[in-house]
Amino acid sequence: MNQKRLQQQIRQLAADQGALLMAHNYERDEIQEIADITGDSLALSIEAKKTDKQIIVFCGVHFMAESAAILAPDKIVLLPRADAGCPMADMVTAEGLRKFKQQHPDATVVTYVNSSAAVKAESDICCTSSNAVSVARSVKAKKLLLVPDRNLGRYIASQTPEKECICWEGYCPVHDQLKVEEIKQAKEDHPEALFMVHPECQPEILEMADHICSTSGMYEFAAKNPAKKFIVGTENGILWRLRKENPDKQFIVPSPVLVCRDMKLTRLEDVLLCLETMKPQVTVPEEIRVKAKQALDKMLAVPRD
Ligand code: 13P
Ligand code: SF4
Repeated sequence: MNQKRLQQQIRQLAADQGALLMAHNYERDEIQEIADITGDSLALSIEAKKTDKQIIVFCGVHFMAESAAILAPDKIVLLPRADAGCPMADMVTAEGLRKFKQQHPDATVVTYVNSSAAVKAESDICCTSSNAVSVARSVKAKKLLLVPDRNLGRYIASQTPEKECICWEGYCPVHDQLKVEEIKQAKEDHPEALFMVHPECQPEILEMADHICSTSGMYEFAAKNPAKKFIVGTENGILWRLRKENPDKQFIVPSPVLVCRDMKLTRLEDVLLCLETMKPQVTVPEEIRVKAKQALDKMLAVPRD
């Protein structure tokens, strides 16, 4: 079936079923194109919580759909590809975190939403890439355990010198690969370009940035800034909307490594099948859900910068 026809069929079926189509900013272009809402992890969590639709089709990776299921337990949350995971989220387990906490009983655990529900349930508060620094500052304790992303953790630490930050040794296999030489080369090729980057990149890369932000933060920065050229330090799914919303601006990809395999798994056929079968559904055991929700709710209560 051709792409347009498939997209129309999905839209029609979503309307018939009363389903909300959500897509993360890294999803394939054709998926973002038909979504009711596209956004970063924080925006999608907020929407999942407030929508009055009973069915959420979450085009993204497992931890994101799980956050929706935690925040909106009365809704059916569908993840078109059950195998779309996040390698960074898999780098910490609830058991591992419990041991880490035992080593630092006086610390508050700040967990990046790129983590399982079971890990969130062991955490004091969650954060996303768009509110991580505000969340860390909102915590009363001086000592923080930052889980699981060491790069986001080191970024938080650099912005909160008043805190003692201890980072879990996890990382995003996509962002962590971006190299200083690649950014140097991109800057040399495009000296007038501004460099915007996701905090999952290594500290040496963040030091070279004009702006460090979440994926949605990049849309805002590119739209508001008068510059005409931007080097984009995040997964390449972000380019579709950046280019669509800023046709007069140029977006440069500094490296071929910026592709998340898991984010690219979901195809239109998977979305259609999931709406037809109402599967695969993401659920979280109630005991874990309630504890994980506390950590997410605390995060959502933190005022944004
Ligand atoms: P954002 O919350 O900035 O969209 O990031 C999610 C993610 O997985 C980045 O790799
Ligand atoms: Fe996980 Fe990295 Fe993919 Fe984001 S880009 S979903 S952190 S593997």
